[in-house]
Amino acid sequence: MLSNIKASLSGVLIGALCVAGASVAFVNPTLGGGSMLDNAGVGVGEPLNVIISGLSSPAVLTDSGIVNFAKAIGFSTECLGIHLGGPQSANLGDGNGPVNQTMELRQDFGDADVGTCLESLIGGNHFRVFRQNGTLTNTGALFLAVSKEEDVEEGHTIVPDGYNIGRDLFVQDALGMTSFGGTTYSTTAQNITGLLPAGSAGINHGIAIDGIVTLLTVTIQ
Ligand SMILES: *[C@@H]1O[C@H](CO)[C@@H](O)[C@H](O)[C@H]1NC(C)=O
Ligand SMILES: *[C@@H]1O[C@H](CO)[C@@H](O)[C@H](O)[C@H]1NC(C)=O
Ligand SMILES: *[C@@H]1O[C@H](CO)[C@@H](O)[C@H](O)[C@H]1NC(C)=O
Repeated sequence: MLSNIKASLSGVLIGALCVAGASVAFVNPTLGGGSMLDNAGVGVGEPLNVIISGLSSPAVLTDSGIVNFAKAIGFSTECLGIHLGGPQSANLGDGNGPVNQTMELRQDFGDADVGTCLESLIGGNHFRVFRQNGTLTNTGALFLAVSKEEDVEEGHTIVPDGYNIGRDLFVQDALGMTSFGGTTYSTTAQNITGLLPAGSAGINHGIAIDGIVTLLTVTIQ
């Protein structure tokens, strides 16, 4: 009963956002029964600590678009297509339920072809991508789980404070004007609190987070 009321309330809220006509940056996944933590498979998750706004240029929000933007800010697809570690899933409260990550990209150390192999060996920044595109809330926003990893000898785990550090490094690289493959981007950032809790409860590897989510709006020039 209570959950029915809650569900219809969030339906009203989400409906209001959609009927308001204009697109929105994103919708808080918890309104639709989702979570701002992904599922790392062991009862814990990684924080979705960066959101690429649904108000970004539409071409940025496609699979090839986010890959090109990632290349512009020093990331690339995984080493020779080799994927280390299992995919994680997230429920963005959009009606799709839990969905596996769309892709995972790694810091490429200045070489879009083989640099990610280096990342796999020596560690570095990386992120997983989830798209909010279900029928409930089709914002097109991309929710990213960003973290800085140890090198492979450390078992490819996350460095201490690796979620906050990964997010801040990613945002630093993304801000302002960047370009790759003939496309130039202008990116602005806004920090949001209250979406993620601060602390380490429920967080993969028990690494505490500061609870900040950075919303990026990426506009093609
Ligand atoms: C995610 O991928 C794993 C491994 O490829 C697969 O077993 C699982 O069914 C997928 N989960 C979802 C929710 O699609
Ligand atoms: C939503 O995004 C997923 C994951 O990127 C994709 O596989 C799917 O085709 C998209 N759905 C629609 C309706 O565009
Ligand atoms: C967001 O928060 C981080 C961590 O406190 C900070 O370094 C960064 O400058 C903030 N960014 C903005 C746009 O406020």
